[in-house]
Amino acid sequence: MEKKKFYITTPIYYPSAKLHIGHTYCTVSADAMARYKRLQGCDVMFLTGTDEHGQKIENKAKEAGVTPKEFLDNIVAGPKGVLDLWKLMNISNDRFIRTTDDYHCAAIQRIFKKMYDKGDIYKGSYKGKYCTPCESFWTESQLVNGRCPDCGREVHDAEEEAYFFRLSKYADKVQDLLENTDFLQPRSRVNEMVNNFIKPGLEDLCVSRTSFSWGIPVDFDPGHVVYVWVDALSNYITALGYQNDRYDDFEKYWPCDVHFVGKEIVRFHSIIWPAMLMSLELPLPKHVYGHGWLVIDGGKMSKSKGNVVDPYPLAEMFGVDALRFFLLRTFPFGTDGNFSNELLIKTINIDLANDLGNLVSRTVAMVEKYFDSTLPAGQEDADADADLIGMVSGLRDRYEDAMERFQFQDALEEIFKVIGRANKYIDENMPWALAKDESKKARLAAVMYNLLETVRVCGTLLIPFMPETADKIFARIGADETCRTWDNAAVWGVLPKEATVVKGDALFPRIDEEKALEELDALREAQMKAALPAVETEPLTEENVDFDTFCKSDLRAVKVKACEAVKKSDKLLKFTLDDGSGTDRTILSGIHHDYEPEDLIGKTCVAILNLPPRKMMGIPSCGMLISAVHKEHGEEKLHLLMVDDSIPAGAKLC
Ligand code: MSP
Repeated sequence: MEKKKFYITTPIYYPSAKLHIGHTYCTVSADAMARYKRLQGCDVMFLTGTDEHGQKIENKAKEAGVTPKEFLDNIVAGPKGVLDLWKLMNISNDRFIRTTDDYHCAAIQRIFKKMYDKGDIYKGSYKGKYCTPCESFWTESQLVNGRCPDCGREVHDAEEEAYFFRLSKYADKVQDLLENTDFLQPRSRVNEMVNNFIKPGLEDLCVSRTSFSWGIPVDFDPGHVVYVWVDALSNYITALGYQNDRYDDFEKYWPCDVHFVGKEIVRFHSIIWPAMLMSLELPLPKHVYGHGWLVIDGGKMSKSKGNVVDPYPLAEMFGVDALRFFLLRTFPFGTDGNFSNELLIKTINIDLANDLGNLVSRTVAMVEKYFDSTLPAGQEDADADADLIGMVSGLRDRYEDAMERFQFQDALEEIFKVIGRANKYIDENMPWALAKDESKKARLAAVMYNLLETVRVCGTLLIPFMPETADKIFARIGADETCRTWDNAAVWGVLPKEATVVKGDALFPRIDEEKALEELDALREAQMKAALPAVETEPLTEENVDFDTFCKSDLRAVKVKACEAVKKSDKLLKFTLDDGSGTDRTILSGIHHDYEPEDLIGKTCVAILNLPPRKMMGIPSCGMLISAVHKEHGEEKLHLLMVDDSIPAGAKLC
């Protein structure tokens, strides 16, 4: 019989931020799903990769002083790069796409042309708010306090020639798809998409850029590069060979069974992607699942807060399987989850060291001790065994029900209920007491067999989550390949009655929480220090100034009324200041490298006013604005001292 096909994808990682535990969560969940489908006997295609175009990448490479391709190669294939992390995390992807791969780029040009020829892409002009230093267009709603959301600078109206995709044409069809099918899951995401994006009116989407060059060129109109999301979303079909001959399994695997995506990119996957596929006249994916985020103390992980969680030390300290397990056991897949090291350690100690680890080690140790590792024929006791056997026999179906809904937490909960029941079964049947009575040896053998069978079924269903641990478990209980199949996970009594066990180390040693937390804190501090720029400040002055002399300095709060660059000077800014006297004061300050004049208007600063006037570039400067100064990588940085705006102009500082 032909195997059932299953095609699953993760979003392709955009290498502008460091890979962290959130990305790992997303990829591990897709891996668990892919392994589950393989366990069921499906022919699985599991795709992941990297999204490598766009202005941010171009800028990052420039900052690093390398070409974009060099920058990307290092992130993808360099030490501790994307490929390394996925290998470490035991990710079983069948294919890895980089959007800079030649076959993908050529396919994107054909896809773009196809939609253009159909009339779904047309040339127009893009109007928006433009930030010159960032070379970025923004819409009114993306601005933060009317300024560029990336750098905080002023933006201005601008217009450029661009191509547009007729997203509006597909609005009704997409709305119908979202509202009347189970395409987008969990269901709670549907309202958000329909109410926030479709109902207010879907506008056509700008799908080309001319302001930067790091993208796939529109081959019939040089100067334009394809919008990064059109390029990125299409990876799901180009990686199968759509519009290219690098691969040839598009017919076999498309449409995709499920795209796993984080909540913030559901919009692209559930509105733009289906519309693009409709335009290309291709079948639609069966499901898009928008999972929640891992957050820290309820908030987003961010470099500036210094709370971005690096998966490497966690995997090294606690083991890859423990980390994989924690991510899927602890958080419901559809909602946000609060990550903490404490929770990670507690989960490992309770579920893995205590419940699962103890069940396996006690069972194996008792079979070894009481039967010299090989069980004799046992004597069943229907009353005492029915509950455990009943629970184990129905486990696979309950697990399957949860997995089909992508509810990993529920699937694991079912397994751990059975593990809990088995530990209780040990206490109820007290093997240590049975062992003391020779006439009860056959009963003892049956109790042990029931425990080994329970471990076998749980081990089989844990394969998708902890593949290496499952192998270890099978080795301990002497389960060969035939005992670990999906079919046999629903059958009781598969292990040979004379099973032979092999003792080993604890599967999950108990973690000393306090010690582990201290180590993780120390590591985080060291990482933060290493990430800081090399900062130098001036050594402290040895010589004292007498108090009376110091008190003569007239330090005041001043408000910036106007500020402009001084002509022919690249450093000097000319300030018109309110110093509280009623007459404007002019001060010149050499801070143009660090500030744009328009950003300083309205600010309250600190100036020393009773210095003798000094001419610079022919303009008299009456006083001095106070700045803090340090060196970063040998370059001087100035920070104009600004104080609370509620302080009135002219207030004396003492
Ligand atoms: N390049 C796009 C995806 C294009 S798919 C055609 C992208 N890349 S990303 O690197 O920014 O994010 C990759 C995935 O990681 C996204 O699904 C995103 O939601 C997920 N996560 C990033 N931070 C996350 C958390 N803190 N928690 C969980 N997942 C998060 O978006």
